Amino acid sequence: MFEVLPQLPADPILGLSAAFKADPNPQKIDLGVGVYKDEKGLTPIPTAVAKAQRILLETEDSKTYISPRGVPGFVDGLLELLLGKGHPALLEDRIAAVQAPGGCGSLSIVSELLKRCNADATVWYSDPTWANHIPLIGKAGLKLEKYPYFDKATASVKFDEMIDCLKANAKAGDIVLLHGCCHNPTGADLTQEQWQELASVLADKGLLPFVDIAYLGFGDGLEEDAYGLRLMVEKLPEVALAASCSKNFGLYRERTGLAALITTSKVVKEAIQTQIQSIARAIYSMSPAYGGALVDIVLNTPDLRAEWVAEVDAMRERMKELRALLVTKLAEKGANKDFAFVNQQKGMFSFLCITPEQVLEMRNKHSVYFVESSRVNIAGISKENVDALAEALVSVL
Ligand code: LMR
Repeated sequence: MFEVLPQLPADPILGLSAAFKADPNPQKIDLGVGVYKDEKGLTPIPTAVAKAQRILLETEDSKTYISPRGVPGFVDGLLELLLGKGHPALLEDRIAAVQAPGGCGSLSIVSELLKRCNADATVWYSDPTWANHIPLIGKAGLKLEKYPYFDKATASVKFDEMIDCLKANAKAGDIVLLHGCCHNPTGADLTQEQWQELASVLADKGLLPFVDIAYLGFGDGLEEDAYGLRLMVEKLPEVALAASCSKNFGLYRERTGLAALITTSKVVKEAIQTQIQSIARAIYSMSPAYGGALVDIVLNTPDLRAEWVAEVDAMRERMKELRALLVTKLAEKGANKDFAFVNQQKGMFSFLCITPEQVLEMRNKHSVYFVESSRVNIAGISKENVDALAEALVSVL
């Protein structure tokens, strides 16, 4: 029976790693999958997380099941990090939440829940968005539609078109998927004023914000990057949230995420809590504990928390420096296009705003690997490879 199924093409993002590994060119450059890399091209375990591993090794005394909600210090600690200490929704106990396997697991749980709440809802997503949003959310059976977001010609957010599209087409009860910060794939974020205008439109039209936040701390700072999410929670009665600890805690393979629904009351929360736990139970029963246990230790041990905050700050500052370095090198090497917009973009990704043909030329002729949309992982740039990267880019323009 298995022969009825065809072979599928490689994943547009994960497939790049395999292609990169297979390339024998010693000068090859990997700007593909979104993982943070240091100057040596390695993806280190943050020292605060490594210390938490040692603590856990000494203190963990059982591998019995954790509760369906997850590791309590992780769920509560991450919600507090995202929303701010003493947030009214936390004090009023109206947030349903489960620890979930990574950002993807969290997005799945939330999508299934939204489908149970309103099977007719359409999820509006930014054009472009992270490639995996569409299969993940679509798998829950929700309808998907795009809203305009990024203009490649001007390398900026088409905010007016986004707002006009939502005003004209979204119906009450629809869901608007938003990137909390460090938009993936473009790196182009909304300004605080734009977040405010968007919040009013969602409130006026009765739309539900679904905030995916996977890069907290990589844009302007851990507090600053939570602005949009916090504003939505302040202005809208209900918010759906999927958060990932892959990037900022360096826990990629530990699949550590959080699915949360900010509801209007403790009574509603209690019902939704049973719903999300039943969704998880029917797929994988409960989340793996390990990554959440580490985040719990880091967030709830003052020294480790301070150390981790400093490490996130250092990762962010390094990515900002790499942006500036790339822009300078491109100008020095005579690029016939102004790449200054790369300095305005936030987080791990930038859209270079070149054509798919140029991206493929970069890959095939120069062994520089990045997503066909022209998304590059800024953290893959280094002082060592930036000259070769800039020369290759100038040559394909
Ligand atoms: C990315 O966007 O490259 C990362 O989030 C990894 C992934 O799963 O696609």
